[in-house]
Amino acid sequence: MNTIKDIDISKKKVFIRVDFNVPLDSTQQITDDARIEAVLPTLKYALSREACVILASHLGRPKGQVKVEFSLQPVARRLGEILGLKVMMAPDCIGEDVAALADDMEGGQVLMLENLRFHKAETQNDSDFGKSLAALCDVYINDAFAVSHRANASVVSITQHAPISAAGLLLKKELDYFDKAMKNPVRPLVAVVGGAKISSKLSALKNMMQHVDKIIVGGAMANTFIKGSGFDVGRSLIEEDLVDTAGSLIGMARERNIKFYMPVDVVVADRLDPEAALKNVPVQEIPPEWLAADIGPATSCLFSEALQDAGTIIWNGPMGVFEMPPFSHGTFKLARAIGGSMATSIIGGGETGSAVQKSGTADQMSYISTGGGAFLTLMEGEQLVAVAALEKAVSSELS
Ligand code: 3PG
Repeated sequence: MNTIKDIDISKKKVFIRVDFNVPLDSTQQITDDARIEAVLPTLKYALSREACVILASHLGRPKGQVKVEFSLQPVARRLGEILGLKVMMAPDCIGEDVAALADDMEGGQVLMLENLRFHKAETQNDSDFGKSLAALCDVYINDAFAVSHRANASVVSITQHAPISAAGLLLKKELDYFDKAMKNPVRPLVAVVGGAKISSKLSALKNMMQHVDKIIVGGAMANTFIKGSGFDVGRSLIEEDLVDTAGSLIGMARERNIKFYMPVDVVVADRLDPEAALKNVPVQEIPPEWLAADIGPATSCLFSEALQDAGTIIWNGPMGVFEMPPFSHGTFKLARAIGGSMATSIIGGGETGSAVQKSGTADQMSYISTGGGAFLTLMEGEQLVAVAALEKAVSSELS
């Protein structure tokens, strides 16, 4: 797929869709600017060609209403500090005033549009809205991997109206990392899958079985596997209707010669609270009134051993309720095992990315994706809807 480097953007109006959906605290301070840092290579490249850089993003889910707490103003300010230049802030993302601001831009300037989701038309993938956004530019660049699983106007319908479209450097890098891990990995390829529910990871687990040599399952979703193995899980989170499915996934792994690992012990608590009473128990001995909140120390050793010979590791989903310190050890030990391994390690964004950040191992990972839902969509073996739209637009431009 063409990237921003394959087309002439010199002095042109370049509309770059980024994902600046960053976490903000109650005083509107950005608490993690990883998503801003991640698009800097694209932005710096565009500025080096003296392009007029028009940035568009969503922030949160304002559902078509203008809400000051979802304004991109703090992001524009932070980006200006990072780039060391003034980032102009538009009052909206479409309309006459915005068009006038875009028209007046000179090469090397940056204009941040206001939150795309202040218009319902964005999430409705409205064609007229996509056309209005496209009218601002000569060139459209999608560098918003993390929202590219959504059929939103600024990543899908805009591609039908922009004169020229291409991928940004972050989008390309995210897709290339994942593609290489799936199609040409250094083996053994190990998938580590955690998080609360099997239902949200079922398609990903099934698809990963086409590719991997080992699967490691942890987090609350492992409770359903534990139950499927015939053990009681007390008051632990469980998906009763998927107990049989969990059993058949283990059977599927066996048929395909995939080594399957699940917890052998868990940390149980009398309630989900940092002050709760805790104990480590084998999965065969979860007391009826207790609930599993983390993998246990024996499981951490087991998973670390299983990872020792890995050539490539893909990790999505924490091993326990890592946000509460007493239940963070399993996730953090796993992060240390993956970070210390020689394998190429690809970490899903969202809560897995934040667990890695919290564990202090982020700089030991080969790649931490900026995408949560988008990363999971790739794990499911699905093409991202915005990438499909971009490819279609690029190929029709070439023909
Ligand atoms: C994300 O944070 O995963 C992306 O920005 C997408 O946000 P959304 O889930 O609100 O569409």
